Amino acid sequence: MFLKLLSTSLSLSLAVLTSADITWPLYSQQCRDDAGPPFLDDEETFGQGGKYHDGSAAYPQLLEDGSCAKPLQGACVSRDDKKTAYLEGPIDCGNKGWYCRIYNDEENGWANINLVGDYNFGNCNSTSSFEDAGYDRDGHCHGSSVDNTYYWWIRDHWHRQYNGRVRCCCGWYEGGTQPLFSGRIANRCDYRRLVTETENLDNCRDANEGHNLGYDDIGCDASYQSSQLNTPIPEDDDVCWEIQRFGFTEEVGSPPTQSPDAPSPVASPTTESPVASPSTSSPVSDPTTSAPVSSPVNDDEDDDPEEAECVDSPLDFMVGLRIRTCNWAGNGNSAKRCAKPGVAKHCPATCGKCDEFKCADSGRRFILEENGKKKRCGFFANNPSRCDRFDYAVETCRESCSYCG
Ligand SMILES: *[C@@H]1O[C@H](CO)[C@@H](O)[C@H](O)[C@H]1NC(C)=O
Repeated sequence: MFLKLLSTSLSLSLAVLTSADITWPLYSQQCRDDAGPPFLDDEETFGQGGKYHDGSAAYPQLLEDGSCAKPLQGACVSRDDKKTAYLEGPIDCGNKGWYCRIYNDEENGWANINLVGDYNFGNCNSTSSFEDAGYDRDGHCHGSSVDNTYYWWIRDHWHRQYNGRVRCCCGWYEGGTQPLFSGRIANRCDYRRLVTETENLDNCRDANEGHNLGYDDIGCDASYQSSQLNTPIPEDDDVCWEIQRFGFTEEVGSPPTQSPDAPSPVASPTTESPVASPSTSSPVSDPTTSAPVSSPVNDDEDDDPEEAECVDSPLDFMVGLRIRTCNWAGNGNSAKRCAKPGVAKHCPATCGKCDEFKCADSGRRFILEENGKKKRCGFFANNPSRCDRFDYAVETCRESCSYCG
């Protein structure tokens, strides 16, 4: 009798489970540079109803009573399970958008793989973040002013192996109770644009950049400095949610990250997809996916390291929405230009800051010559073998690439 009841309720809940899922996402917003397997092949790749995150270690951070965070309550009803709801949505932020921060979670045994190489923001609770809109040592932040981009950003960063703990909240420009633009949470954040249903995906290289909609050089609102300094930022859990153990790994629970130069079965030291990239027909050759070239540039041609020359970075860099060069910093109101956060560290010769910054990393986002991607020196600090592949980076990330020896 009991068994019969049990099996009835089991098959009932199974019936509920299989009938729950909605069609989501509604259409593909996967651009060429998005990492991960081609979305349109998912059924072939993962089987009917299969998901790219099946069997992964990721799990949703549920509320104390086991229910879903508010912006995901609808998704937890309409989707097969809560993990799918958290990783895919649909989120409900009233279509005011969202922003997510990925924090390093190695203290809990979750290897960061490629996360540390692309830190891009600072929490609005340190002097560095309040003073420097470009300070970027706390994690990776990305968001959008549209709700349905969430699925695509998560899928892309999952396969880029930006592994860690993901904390997301509602509201980009506005919305929720603590939108990003309140200047209270993060000093900067990248933007994921909406790819529309009618757009030709062949013309979309990267929805994560090139749209000039990032939260760049805006910084933390100084009026929060006295209340928030050196203490956890008070956040409204009603508009936020978290995913633990986020990101792709070959093996669930794999040990902490490998040395960047050693080939490893876990992950190659690139920021790109470990899985075949969608369509693989990108006309822009991406140096980070090319085989590691093992010809060090500085093959000790110089055994007189104590006198490195003070040089500007040869690379263009971003100031707000504009692309700048060290020539720009030296012209016009040069003193003012060099005083902008991070500029003198990018252009120490031009800005007359050789004493301080000759051997320092650039303090700006700069543009890689090969592919137009914007990076910061963290990209090289995390993986110094990249200094060999991108030889000009040595004069840009002078500390991370040991320019001064
Ligand atoms: C700064 O804020 C972050 C996020 O809220 C928090 O994890 C961290 O502990 C805070 N830093 C300090 C020094 O309290």
